[in-house]
Amino acid sequence: MDEPTPSAGCEAFDDLDIHSRSFSENPFLHYDQLRQDCPVMHSPRYGGFWLLTRYDDVKSAALDWRSYTSSVVGVTAIPIITPRTEPMLPIELDPPLHSRYRALVNPVFSAERVEKLRQPIMALIERLVDNLLAQGGGDLATEYAVPLSVGALAAFTGLPPADSHLWVKWLDRMFQPKDPAGTQQASREFGAHIDQLIAERHAQPQDDFISLLIAAEVDGHRLTDSEIHSYCTVIFGAGFETTADALSVMLCWLAEHPDDWKRLQREPGLIPSAVEEFLRFSSPIQIFGRNASHDLELHGQHIPGGDIVALGFGAANHDPAVFAEAERCVLDRSPNKHLSFGAGVHICLGAPIARLEMQLTLEVMLRRLTSLQRADAAPLVWKPRGDRRGLATLLVTLQP
Ligand code: HEM
Repeated sequence: MDEPTPSAGCEAFDDLDIHSRSFSENPFLHYDQLRQDCPVMHSPRYGGFWLLTRYDDVKSAALDWRSYTSSVVGVTAIPIITPRTEPMLPIELDPPLHSRYRALVNPVFSAERVEKLRQPIMALIERLVDNLLAQGGGDLATEYAVPLSVGALAAFTGLPPADSHLWVKWLDRMFQPKDPAGTQQASREFGAHIDQLIAERHAQPQDDFISLLIAAEVDGHRLTDSEIHSYCTVIFGAGFETTADALSVMLCWLAEHPDDWKRLQREPGLIPSAVEEFLRFSSPIQIFGRNASHDLELHGQHIPGGDIVALGFGAANHDPAVFAEAERCVLDRSPNKHLSFGAGVHICLGAPIARLEMQLTLEVMLRRLTSLQRADAAPLVWKPRGDRRGLATLLVTLQP
């Protein structure tokens, strides 16, 4: 990649490291100045990439797949650390190929299939809350958000819930920007497990995700085993940590803002809009990659074709040009055109599942608990990667 000329106003960000502890603890501290003075930032770190932070730029780039392609293996993660030659499906494809691969899985994500998850997710939430109440509290990140997210994925895919602890172990290690060797090892182990499940489903089809993918057909095209493997990796990679993170940050807000907790208890009709606002406010995917298909000009900045361009979904969601009082979590915000699930052809397939988990969490907790409080006054422990936003732990006490 040619070393670009930084635009005036960008010097202040020369040392910015999106995976540094300070950035992952509070990325929002940087975004106002970035949007204003350096809306097209270049970072030489992690192989070099551009970062867009204004809402209009991020949304336009997400919609413009011809200029900002996803069709470069590994490009969606910064840095690219998993050596692969095959694209992840459907997230690392552009139309028209993307449309075909998305059509193949659309039936798996139908509203009817998602609605069928309501009952098992509700039952899981009740059980998790029972356990927490029995202890008088606990760690909502590891003892609630993680088991709920992975349990909902097990219910959605029909894969053995007994394996959940293995998925959690692998997925936790599968993208650690500062530990590429550990990441690659976890990817290999996870991959071998998926291959084994695919072989088992060929031998004995069941009513589950992998069996559905084996049988799926669009335009006479059937998926190969390596394509099925890729879908499984994306579903678990895209659906597990994001949802767990959204849940932990939402619950943290309510533990720290008893007035909002009481307001939702008084006005449960606000739950759907509150969930959208928690998604906007936390932005579980802060930063996601694309590649410039050709030379681009944006705000006077030249972006050479072939360069990585990161979409700052978190920065866009806090852009005061679009969201009044962007740094406040406003439970009844309307309209709320956040980009937490992306925009355009890659808009999140699992959004209805994530929303269901968040809404049912609020319904059950607001009904069963009088209050939720942080158990300690220690600073929050955020996960150590700045392209995501989630809590590593969230210790609380609960009152029935
Ligand atoms: C709060 C939770 C979630 C957030 C914040 C989130 C966010 C996103 C975002 C921003 C994208 C677009 C990426 C891009 O523009 O390239 C995306 C795509 C995707 N998500 Fe989610 N996601 C969540 C939950 C889930 C769940 C639960 C699943 C599966 C069960 C899932 C499956 C997918 C898939 C398959 C794609 C790729 C779609 C495509 O390329 O056409 N996500 N997600």
